[in-house]
Amino acid sequence: FNVPTAINEPVKTYAPGSPEKAELLAMYKTMFNSNIDVPMHINGKEVRTGKTKNITPPHDHKHVVGQYHTAEKKHIDEAISTALAARAAWSSVSWEERATIFLKAAELLAGPYRAKMNAATMIGQSKNVHQAEIDAACETIDFLRFNVQYMIDIFKDQPASSPGIWNRVEYRPLEGFVYAISPFNFTAIAANLPSSAALMGNVVVWKPSDHQVYSAQVIVDLFKEAGLPDGVINVVFGDPVMISDTVLASRDFSGLHFTGSTEVFKNLWKQIGNNIHNYKTYPKIVGETGGKDFIWVHNSSNPLQVATAIVRGSFEYQGQKCSAASRAYVPASLWEEVKKHVIAQTNEIKMGSPEDTDNFVNAVIHEGSFDKIASFIDAAKAGKDAEIIVGGNHDKSVGYFIEPTVILAKSPTYTTMTTELFGPVMTVFIYEDEAWEASLKLVDESTEYALTGAIFSNDRYIVEKASKALENAAGNFYINDKPTGAVVGQQPFGGARASGTNDKAGSAQNLLRWTSARLIKETF
Ligand code: ALA
Repeated sequence: FNVPTAINEPVKTYAPGSPEKAELLAMYKTMFNSNIDVPMHINGKEVRTGKTKNITPPHDHKHVVGQYHTAEKKHIDEAISTALAARAAWSSVSWEERATIFLKAAELLAGPYRAKMNAATMIGQSKNVHQAEIDAACETIDFLRFNVQYMIDIFKDQPASSPGIWNRVEYRPLEGFVYAISPFNFTAIAANLPSSAALMGNVVVWKPSDHQVYSAQVIVDLFKEAGLPDGVINVVFGDPVMISDTVLASRDFSGLHFTGSTEVFKNLWKQIGNNIHNYKTYPKIVGETGGKDFIWVHNSSNPLQVATAIVRGSFEYQGQKCSAASRAYVPASLWEEVKKHVIAQTNEIKMGSPEDTDNFVNAVIHEGSFDKIASFIDAAKAGKDAEIIVGGNHDKSVGYFIEPTVILAKSPTYTTMTTELFGPVMTVFIYEDEAWEASLKLVDESTEYALTGAIFSNDRYIVEKASKALENAAGNFYINDKPTGAVVGQQPFGGARASGTNDKAGSAQNLLRWTSARLIKETF
């Protein structure tokens, strides 16, 4: 089991005047004006159905950068049958060969594909250059490298044997195919959901988000150039209900690898339950879903550090990270100081197109999202139960721009304290210092979610108490740090409760779900 040691891909800074910055911006310009035509990919063939939808950058939604083709039911049937036809060959390819393909993909992405993947993510998903770099380049590379290591960790887990008896476990792929449904917000997650299952020898039907099509095409090109055989990962776009209905009706459906909304995941789970008698094998169900991630502050913490965490943790990528903080609990004695820094730092944020790399905040993903977030901000402005501390403006005339906004809520159950908005909106509730234990209960009980959360205190006694009180409130729990920015190989990522099945992305535990183990006992 000798494989290259995985290391995290160093993050490029794109400093002014650097060659990587010039290359990236040139690539951005070319791709922005290229009018691409994105087909589906079934059995390695480009499938153009003629039923197309436009790809438009969220920050410039009247500009069409291309089209993508959407599926009819027959295309989904074809994707399934192709995957199954490819299964026999792919599942008997040695693990070394499979690893080679994905390790090569990592190195291609670290080199020639880097600018393309980042530019596609900046254009299609409206990420600034730094957010694109840590996601589309580094996190994707890290998943590809570390997953090989985790696969080996799994293989090494073997039962005891004795003279005359050899017990061994073969970690086989699932019997059937895996269905991957990926979100718009991380190119790395989109790449990881199908590739982690494929690395373990599975064949996949992959449905990316309609809002991540541009970078999905680059992922397909990357895997192809790295040597992934036809039919192993089949990519389909279009109506999610029709696609899921068709996929889940297949007798050979054997796993769901999902990142997206809680509601969709619960509906899929229900549908799988309803079909359970049809399946050859019990499907594995792995999902990372919604969140209402928190920052809890004790009066023993540093107000500047807290303010920086609030601003960074809530507004990076317009608050559209699953890990983004969106509710904070601050003690009364610290609030004025925290508020001062939050306002100052938020007012420094520049907003606009990612092509101007000084813009920290870009557009939210689409009009539906914009309208939802804007309506909550407007309600906070209009009502008596909340007050806007900073931000609050929004404008969708050119792009779906929403100013980073901090709302102060009078009640811990105010709508934006408990509703997932998936946008650049942080809501703060102030509690009386002495009621800190009661405030921890509020953090724990105000929402159904448990994805990420952060606590701030410089008192170890308080840290211990808060960690214990919130032990089920976040799958990724941060002490004196913002709750975003989990790095593969360092902070495996995932939540519990309504936030997911907590099969951490970037872990052996996740890859294990894509195996069906055969125990072999042989006597001599
Ligand atoms: N790696 C992403 C984050 O933690 C999911 O923000």
